[in-house]
Amino acid sequence: MRLRSLLFVPGDRPDRMEKALGLEADALILDLEDAVAPQAKPAARQLTAEFLRSAKQGPMFFIRVNALDSDLIDDDLEAILDARPDALILPKAEGATSVRALAAKAPGIPILPITTETPAAVFELGSYRTVRHLILGLTWGAEDLPAAIGATNSREEDGSYTPPYEMLRSLALFGAHAAGVEAIETVYPAFRELDGLAAYARRARRDGFTGMMAIHPAQVPIINAAFTPTVEELAEAQAIIDAFAANPGRGALNFGGRMIDAPHLRQARRLIALAETASP
Ligand code: COA
Ligand code: MG
Repeated sequence: MRLRSLLFVPGDRPDRMEKALGLEADALILDLEDAVAPQAKPAARQLTAEFLRSAKQGPMFFIRVNALDSDLIDDDLEAILDARPDALILPKAEGATSVRALAAKAPGIPILPITTETPAAVFELGSYRTVRHLILGLTWGAEDLPAAIGATNSREEDGSYTPPYEMLRSLALFGAHAAGVEAIETVYPAFRELDGLAAYARRARRDGFTGMMAIHPAQVPIINAAFTPTVEELAEAQAIIDAFAANPGRGALNFGGRMIDAPHLRQARRLIALAETASP
């Protein structure tokens, strides 16, 4: 599966859904939650279901439903399940219990929970490994929790996260890998700052995220590029594999003045495997 970029599209904007099809996003996230005003929810459900039924080609189609404790999610599911979305995004998820609750309402559809949007959610980040068969990845957010706890912001003036949100990002990253599922970086809200986005997305891949959510068409190619290994990276990975192959029985090697051993070989193999699944 190739899941580098996941583009949000408001569920009440069919014009934007059409446009999103031509953007090379690996998945679209048709949103029924925060991007849709309360009075527009019924229309959004219908428009989203119709779009899904008519547009079966192209990217994967994910739907973000409303939270489990909203009185909206049952109507969301009733309207959209027949249209067979490829996955459901679950906002305000609070660990394995939330995943099981949604899976019971929507059997057989993979779930991608947003794992850091309530205070209680923070203490459940290690629990997703018990429901790994129900989820395709984990993602996180830095926008809802500040609002939930009366914090004024999750970011410093230079745009970097404050310590509480750096911690959440790390816990979501390791929670995903502990479960053996995709680790999806959160959105970069300043959608006109494309250089800032490029640096942010590169940092995400460096740290072990496997893909990232987008909110605007201009973000998609930048995210796709950041999560695609470069020619130089692939050449180095192949050189590391070749160096071990040329020295059978040796655990640690001198690689141009730097020590490489088993973790570097694993990393190199992983990168080559990633490039193979990512090629169209
Ligand atoms: N999906 C598809 N098309 C989009 C889009 C999206 N998420 N965001 C913008 N576009 C389109 C616009 O329709 C416009 O198309 P046009 O040139 O054919 O008219 C073009 O891209 C340029 O849009 P722009 O004027 O730069 O953006 P905007 O000011 O109209 O909208 C946002 C800005 C943030 C409101 C918009 O990008 C958006 O709705 N993003 C998704 C929000 C969301 O779902 N949030 C929930 C999760 S955090
Ligand atoms: Mg939200």
